[in-house]
Amino acid sequence: MSQSTCVELNQLEFQWPGASFPLLHIPHLQIQQGERVLLRGASGSGKSTLLSLIAGVHQARPNQVHVLGHDLAQLSQRQRDRLRANEIGYIFQQFNLLPYLSAVENVVLAARFAPARVARLKGEAGSYHELAEHLLTQLGLAEQDSKRPAHQLSVGQQQRVAAARALFGRPALIIADEPTSALDIDHRDNFIEVLFNACEVHHTTLLFVTHDGSLAHHFQRAIELNEINQAAGGR
Ligand SMILES: Nc1ncnc2c1ncn2[C@@H]1O[C@H](COP(=O)(O)OP(=O)(O)OP(=O)(O)O)[C@@H](O)[C@H]1O
Ligand SMILES: [Mg+2]
Repeated sequence: MSQSTCVELNQLEFQWPGASFPLLHIPHLQIQQGERVLLRGASGSGKSTLLSLIAGVHQARPNQVHVLGHDLAQLSQRQRDRLRANEIGYIFQQFNLLPYLSAVENVVLAARFAPARVARLKGEAGSYHELAEHLLTQLGLAEQDSKRPAHQLSVGQQQRVAAARALFGRPALIIADEPTSALDIDHRDNFIEVLFNACEVHHTTLLFVTHDGSLAHHFQRAIELNEINQAAGGR
C-alpha cells in the first residue's frame, strides 16, 4: 500500500449476523489521499454498511480493510476508536448530535479523545469555541444559532453542525452519508462548497454517499456499488 493511499479494500466480504447472504464482496478498491469520491447505489445495497466498515465501526476480517496504512482488523478496539477520533470525520445519515449541547459544544466535542485533532487545532489562532464558531459560520449557521441546543435547530441546520463536527481538527478522511438530503438547494450548494474547500485546502479525502445526481460533477470519481460488489446478496 503506497504512502498516499487513504483507503484500500482487498477481498472485502461482509455478512450481517442472521442474514442469509453476504451483503458485500468487493474484490478491490483503492482511494488515494486527497481524492473526492462519490459512492452511489440503490437503497439497501450496503453503502452505509461499507462506510461503517471503513470507519471501523463494524469489523471486517484481517487484510480486508486498510485505512491510512492500518489494517483495521489488526488494531485493538481502543486503537480503532483512537484512529477514528483522530483521523475520520463521519457525517451520519442521522446526524447523531447530542441534543442538549449547543451547536458549538457539539463541534468542540470532536476534539475530545482525539489528540491528533487537538495538536492540529493548537496551530490555529483562537480558542476551540472560537474555531468551532468560525467553522459553523462558514457553513452558514448564524452566530446566535450556534449557541442554541442542537434539538432546537432545523434539520438542515443540524446537518451543518454535523459537518462542522466532522471537519473540526482536520481529520485525514471525511465520510459523509447522504449529508445533503435535508438541505434546500441554496444551502446544499453552500454546504458542498465549504466542505469541498476544506477538503481541498487540507488534502482531506472525501468519501460521499448521495442519491443526488446533480452533485456528480463535484467529484473526481464516482463509484457504483453494484459495479464493484460481487456478493450474491448485493444488488
Ligand atoms: N445493524 C444491522 N444489522 C443487520 N442488518 C443490517 C444492519 N444495518 C443494515 N443492515 C442490512 O444491510 C442491508 C444494507 O443496509 P445499508 O444501510 O448498508 O444500505 P444503504 O445502501 O445505506 O441504504 P440507504 O440508501 O437506504 O441508506 C439492508 O438489507 C439492511 O437491512
Ligand atoms: Mg444508508
